[in-house]
Amino acid sequence: MKLMGDDQLERSAVVANCRMNRERGLLGSNGYSKELGFDPLCFLVARLSAGKPLTWLDLCCGSGKALVEAAEVVNTEGFDLHIVGVDLAGMFRCPRPSRPCLRLVEASLTTWRPDAPADLITCVHGLHYMGDKLGLIGRAASWLTEDGLLVANLDLANLKLADGRGAGRRVTSDFRRAGLEYDPRKRLVVCRGRRVVILPYRYLGADDQAGPNYTGQPAVNSYYQPNHAGGRSL
Ligand SMILES: C[S@@+](CC[C@H](N)C(=O)[O-])C[C@H]1O[C@@H](n2cnc3c(N)ncnc32)[C@H](O)[C@@H]1O
Repeated sequence: MKLMGDDQLERSAVVANCRMNRERGLLGSNGYSKELGFDPLCFLVARLSAGKPLTWLDLCCGSGKALVEAAEVVNTEGFDLHIVGVDLAGMFRCPRPSRPCLRLVEASLTTWRPDAPADLITCVHGLHYMGDKLGLIGRAASWLTEDGLLVANLDLANLKLADGRGAGRRVTSDFRRAGLEYDPRKRLVVCRGRRVVILPYRYLGADDQAGPNYTGQPAVNSYYQPNHAGGRSL
């Protein structure tokens, strides 16, 4: 199978799909709190202490609707919070008037890096469209504050070994070894506190013809070569 590189993948119809849901709000049945199992804004507000601003970084933020809604509350309540959203498509909602606590960045997460650690990092149904999903999970874990929290939707069925077999089971064990948690019921990968995550895989490329995953939307399969220097054989 011919695998795709990042440039080709980012131009593909699956990643540019205009029917994918980029419009989740903060709360409710089409909201971040339902997908993540907690309200991101409540999580941060509970951690606020005087003189210490907190940061929420949302990867693959889509239109940024949830972030705009959160920014309105932050503005009204005067919370000391910064909200940063990053998305490839740049199809952002623009709050009127603009809110200084909110920054929406059009960029690819294959190359983008934050300029400061984040107290909360979320990625709501974004990893399904990334090529190197494990690479982004590892980088995001390193972007956390010491006691920060990373939560991202991940379908293990979209992780493949070079010969086409599923990589999900062995990746879950390697997540555990690396200090990450995976909740198979909610299909969420979680990292508590900043970590250097070394997962023993080499990214080979992506297949945008994987078909729908558990979300019902066409997703991207990511192919990996286990790195035997990491210690284990198949
Ligand atoms: C299903 S949408 C989810 C959007 C938002 N999190 C929500 O739930 O409303 C997935 C998003 O991932 C973005 N995306 C895909 N590949 C990306 C990449 N390489 N870098 C940044 N964003 C990417 C897409 O543009 C899309 O907006």
